[in-house]
Amino acid sequence: MFPMQRMRRLRKNSSIRAMVRQNSIELNDLILPLFVTYGKNKMIPISSMPGVYQYSVENIVKKAEEAYNAGIPAIILFGIPETKDKKGTMAFSQNGIVQKAVKEIKNKIPSLIIITDVCLCGYTTDGHCGFVNEKGIIENDSSCEQLAKIALSHVQAGADIVAPSDMMDGRVKYIRSLLDTEGFQDSIIMSYAVKYASSYYGPFREAADCAPKKGNRKTYQMDPANSREAIREAELDIKEGADLLIIKPALAYLDIICKIRNTFNIPLVSYNVSGEYAMLKAASEKGWIDYSSVLEETLVSMKRAGSDMIITYSAMDMARLINGR
Ligand code: PBG
Ligand code: ZN
Repeated sequence: MFPMQRMRRLRKNSSIRAMVRQNSIELNDLILPLFVTYGKNKMIPISSMPGVYQYSVENIVKKAEEAYNAGIPAIILFGIPETKDKKGTMAFSQNGIVQKAVKEIKNKIPSLIIITDVCLCGYTTDGHCGFVNEKGIIENDSSCEQLAKIALSHVQAGADIVAPSDMMDGRVKYIRSLLDTEGFQDSIIMSYAVKYASSYYGPFREAADCAPKKGNRKTYQMDPANSREAIREAELDIKEGADLLIIKPALAYLDIICKIRNTFNIPLVSYNVSGEYAMLKAASEKGWIDYSSVLEETLVSMKRAGSDMIITYSAMDMARLINGR
């Protein structure tokens, strides 16, 4: 008789399990999101995201340094400006909050990779990711022009990577061509290529003060019920010149990460979003789950699905676990 297959042979002790393990979370996988706000000496807690704060510039430099010292290679910055207007002027000013933070962080920690989120929603009075016209319709092409100006101002300040999160059509092309014309051929574009209209962003909108005043984001972000259009979105951004793609949210969309991984060879980033973080923290505060082990299991699911990197509010927690291995 054919010998019985014994799958458990390779699980019988921890050394063998470690040798056959396909995926792991390493420091080089981690990107820490940070919120920078105006004013001095601020550290404002976000109630729906325990452990996450809005920092003023001098404090964000300290936080970035802490991340770098823990071995985290990159941060992604979101700005909370002092004033908002119809056109989001403060988004591309060299005195803007993100631009100031980028300069200070680069100056203090030149080897830390700085990614900046490029969008309009935090800077406009409408709170949408593109311009809203008199009829309440999002204007695609004029928004792309403005987004390109924002991206340029970020790389001029010293950002290594710009990450457009708006979901306007064609914005990667607008950004790539403006960066190239202005001499920033080597600046990297990490596009939020596949971004769903998700309720998992709830806590983030408190953190970044960027909830839309009217309506919702369903006319530009993707329908959670769809998967085929994710491939089309990814394909377009690659054609337009994106170097890295973000898929967002991560946990409820692991099938999408896997599909994109099987279709394209470009490096992929999963965004473990605010609602995913909030759920884990809340359950662990109640003592219902073990935070550290559920965190590692959650993040490794994203690697297993095919992502190379993970943007996560738990990056510091994960780095501590890795450093203690
Ligand atoms: C804004 C932006 C959002 C997130 C990142 N950039 C919110 C949104 O699009 O509604 C979500 C991040 C998170 O939930 O952690 N363009
Ligand atoms: Zn936005």
